[in-house]
Order: sequence, then structure tokens, then C-alpha cells
Amino acid sequence: MLNIKLNYILVIILFMSSVAILYQIQLARLQEKLIKLEHLQAKYETAPNRKEASELLNENNVVVLYNRVPKTASTSFVGVAYDLCKKNNFHVLHVNITANSHTLSLTNQLKFALNVSNWDSMKPALFHGHFAYLDFSKFGISNPLYINLIRKPLDRFISYYYFIRYGDNYRPYLIRRKHGNTMSFDECVTKQLPDCDPNNMWLQIPFFCGHSINCWKPGNKWALNEAKRNLINNYFLVGVTEELDDFISVLEQSLPRLFKGASDHYSNSNKSHLRQTVQKDTPSEETVKKIKGSMIWQMENELYEFALEHFHFIKKFGFKNKFQNIMYEKIRPKG
Ligand SMILES: *[C@@H]1O[C@H](CO)[C@@H](O)[C@H](O)[C@H]1NC(C)=O
Ligand SMILES: *[C@@H]1O[C@H](CO)[C@@H](O)[C@H](O)[C@H]1NC(C)=O
Ligand SMILES: *[C@@H]1O[C@H](CO)[C@@H](O)[C@H](O)[C@H]1NC(C)=O
Repeated sequence: MLNIKLNYILVIILFMSSVAILYQIQLARLQEKLIKLEHLQAKYETAPNRKEASELLNENNVVVLYNRVPKTASTSFVGVAYDLCKKNNFHVLHVNITANSHTLSLTNQLKFALNVSNWDSMKPALFHGHFAYLDFSKFGISNPLYINLIRKPLDRFISYYYFIRYGDNYRPYLIRRKHGNTMSFDECVTKQLPDCDPNNMWLQIPFFCGHSINCWKPGNKWALNEAKRNLINNYFLVGVTEELDDFISVLEQSLPRLFKGASDHYSNSNKSHLRQTVQKDTPSEETVKKIKGSMIWQMENELYEFALEHFHFIKKFGFKNKFQNIMYEKIRPKG
């Protein structure tokens, strides 16, 4: 009887000590793993390319939205992106809106914002199309990186005037809306015809202003202020047509994941000559004086000058000063 009890206790002791030994072994293995992981982490933190690696991780999800204003050399710039997209491994998508409408219905605004931000298989991506600024954040969706180009308003207006009459060298076969009309811009201004009505110059302001009705009322002061506010707060970068090469350089420096090699590509190709309106007479002094006397030109020009000054500021402090570093110090508590 006593023997059986002793045996029983022995078995229990044996069992318990083997469990203890097993745990010891497991613990030793875990400690080994932990040490390995700590080594790995230390290696990762000191690796010289760690910063780039984490930047790449984010830039792989980047969505750039270029809501291009007609006749601002946008085709030249987009051409560069199309040439680079395969090599740099990103997608370029044209947003074709029915009847070239510059604004979207509320339903389509939400649809578009959701689609653009959730379409992971396209990322990183550059979407481009002729539509007004759309604030994704009103749907609780974070905004993409907006970019744009702006051009001297009278140059853009005259370019458009001749474009719809004579087309361009990009798609010469396409018959434009006013094909066959050979009236010069000067003559149009003298006769005060609708095609050269300064109110039709109201386009860059609404493109930067957005989807509010007041944006589209020629001469609306709130629209001009809203356009300026968006340009500063909600655009990643706005360049000017007259300095397209610098715009491409700044983009390449700030978003190399997409635009690496863009500057060289642009200066070495003949893209800079792409899409020139076929016939363009220079306007007379009188015409220029008349247009510049209009309130619409003055407001559009105010936005242009505003954008120009900001772009020069970015070039001076962000782009030319290549060796600016951000460092963190006095980090407390220690350890
Ligand atoms: C946009 O789509 C319409 C209808 O499908 C088409 O006729 C038009 O050519 C497209 N626009 C461009 C610029 O491809
Ligand atoms: C975005 O729209 C396209 C075209 O309609 C569709 O093929 C794609 O699946 C959509 N992506 C998302 C994430 O909704
Ligand atoms: C650009 O250059 C290519 C060959 O390098 C030529 O085929 C093409 O016609 C040129 N385009 C323009 C618009 O000059």
C-alpha cells in the first residue's frame, strides 16, 4: 500500500520536473530569438538606406492629381509622365469626364474620391483631367497630392482662341470647333464678339477655386481668395507654364519615386515643342490694352502673379537649397 503511494508520488515528481525542463528549453529558445530580433532591429536602425526605405514605403501609395487647365502646356508635361511611367513603375490615368465638364455632380464627386483613393493596384498613380479642384476631405477622405500649372491669362486666352480655329500639331487631323473661322483675335476684340469676351478668361480662378457655384461667377472676389487659399494650403506644387522646366525639376526632387529622370528626359526630348497651336498672331497694343483694362483679366492676373511669387519662393528655398537637412536632438527622457 505504502509502495504504491510512493510510486505515485515519484511519477508526479518526474512529470513535474520534465515539464519544468521543457519550459526551461522553451525559455532559452525564446531568449535566443529575442536576441536575434534585437540584433536585426539594431542593424535596421543603423542601415544607411533605412530612411530611403521607409520613404519608399509611403511613396508607393502616393496619388498625384493634376487637374490641368486647358492651354497651359499640360500636354507637354503629361507626355513626360507617360514616357516615364513604365521605367519608374507607376500608373498614369486620364480622367475623361462626359462632355468635358469641369465640375462633377455630388454623386460623382464621392465616387471619384473613393475610387482614386482606394484603387491600390494603380498606386503610385498620376491622375490627370480637365476638372476643377475637389476637396476630398469633405467626404472624410484624405486629399491626394494636387499639382497644377498656371499661365499668363491673356496668353492662355489667345492660345485657346486660335486652338479652336486651327488646332495644333499634336492632333492635326482633328477638326476643331471653330474650324474655318479665320477671324484674328484683334478683329474679334474690335467687334466685341463673345469668343474674346474677357468673361471667358475666367478659368484658372475657378479651376483652383473648386466646385462651389461662386467659383464660376466671373469677377467673384470670394472665388479669387478661395483659389489663392487652395493654391497655398491644398496644392502640393503649382508651377507656371513659362517655367515648365523648373516645375519638372522641383517635382523630380520632391517626388523622385514618380519623377526620377524627368528633367533629363524633358530637356533631351522634343517634348517642349509638343502641341503648339498652329496659327497664333500676336495681338495689337490696342487689344492688349483693352483686355488688360478688364476686371476679369486683372483678377486672373492677380492669381497668376500670386502663384508665380509662391513658385519662386519654393524654388529658392526648397529646390536650390539641396542640402537642407532635418535633424532631431535634445530627445528626452533618455534611454
Ligand atoms: C472621352 O470619351 C469620349 C466618349 O467615350 C470620347 O469620344 C473622347 O474621345 C474621349 N476623350 C479623349 C480626350 O480621349
Ligand atoms: C475604380 O474605377 C475603375 C473603373 O470604373 C474600376 O475598374 C476600379 O475597380 C475602381 N477601383 C476601386 C478601388 O473602386
Ligand atoms: C520628335 O522627335 C521624333 C524623333 O526623335 C520625331 O519622330 C517627331 O516627329 C518629333 N516630334 C515633333 C513634334 O517634332
